[in-house]
Amino acid sequence: MPYAHITGWGMAVPEPVLTNDDLAKIVETSDEWIRDRTGIRERRIARENEFPSTLGVEASIQALKVANLRPTDLDLIICTSSSPEYFFPATACLIQDQLGATKAGAFDLLAACTGFIFATNMAAQAIRSGSIKNVLVVGTETLSRFVDWKDRNTCILFGDGAGAFVLQASDQPGGVLSAVMHSDGSGGDSLSLPAGGARLPATEATIHEGKHFIHMDGKEVFRFATRVMGRAATEALELAGMTTEDIQWIIPHQANYRIIETAAKYLKMPLDKFIINVDRYGNTSTASIPIATVEAAQKGQLKPGDKVVFVGFGAGLTWGALTAQWTGPLPVKRHVHPEQYRWFARVRSFFRRIIRIIEGIFFRREL
Ligand code: ACO
Repeated sequence: MPYAHITGWGMAVPEPVLTNDDLAKIVETSDEWIRDRTGIRERRIARENEFPSTLGVEASIQALKVANLRPTDLDLIICTSSSPEYFFPATACLIQDQLGATKAGAFDLLAACTGFIFATNMAAQAIRSGSIKNVLVVGTETLSRFVDWKDRNTCILFGDGAGAFVLQASDQPGGVLSAVMHSDGSGGDSLSLPAGGARLPATEATIHEGKHFIHMDGKEVFRFATRVMGRAATEALELAGMTTEDIQWIIPHQANYRIIETAAKYLKMPLDKFIINVDRYGNTSTASIPIATVEAAQKGQLKPGDKVVFVGFGAGLTWGALTAQWTGPLPVKRHVHPEQYRWFARVRSFFRRIIRIIEGIFFRREL
């Protein structure tokens, strides 16, 4: 059975920074309150022309560069997002098209902020089945478009950004070692985006009542998160036959510094073993774990051979953890340039649209 190694990683965040002081001009809050309750100092907000797919493509190109793979080497793209570009087509398909990953199947997976753990686990399982070699996993968000900027309970928390991993099959032991995935739909009400789906399609009333924004019972989510984070990490470690002594890093979902502190206490681990960047990006949902990972890899904190636990929680309710041995970049035989495929992809996409129009005309004539 092949092993699933993480061989590429990338991230993209929009340039515009929204500080706590900026927020204090919009809603009744303060830098001190936000920092004390969440640890967040600032977050990034997507510009008008930035979307989950564009940020996701930027992160993916970086990840492909690190893995030294062409987009056409990809067999599968799994995108996970709490703020997808559309209901359908899947954001994964938009990314597939923009990358020029012509041989890849692509689909979205929805598990809110736990999405990146679930998607990475699914990618590893697909690789282990032997049917697939190279998988791109993308977590990407423009949650700022679903935040009610009048609701100080939620608008202070979220930020935009994207992160991506490339997973590759290898006979060498290592890579993803274990994973646990959990859900409890009975808690779905505590964190939701109530309208826009089949139950509450968009109407004037749903818009007027702000039901297309994130609704959250902060205290309930806080209690749930502090209950499950440490437990999920322990379960994944046990499944891999390891304890906290065996690991170098924990990379948690970046929602709130106090939630991470509670997980550290539960696991009896010092906070300096946790990769934390919630202060600079806020909660970027599915993108938070890969963004934290990329920063740790770029700073040289994460070294090849290190054992890591990724752990997250989110709406659903969902939670999970995944352990991995960090592979680091594989030796390069010949450099490839994944970014060049974007231009081919644009031209190809344009011509495919024209061909579809022409096919449509002939098809109608045949009828
Ligand atoms: N600025 C100032 N005061 C505020 C703000 C604010 N931004 N927000 C709330 N308050 C007020 C409240 O109105 C309340 O006032 P009251 O006592 O007069 O009613 C007071 O501050 C205390 O509010 P609490 O809700 O008790 O504050 P708490 O300590 O619970 O912190 C927070 C709130 C930060 C939202 C916390 O509950 C939390 O982090 N929860 C988890 C949220 C989370 O992680 N969500 C994402 C999950 S992942 C996903 O799937 C998207």
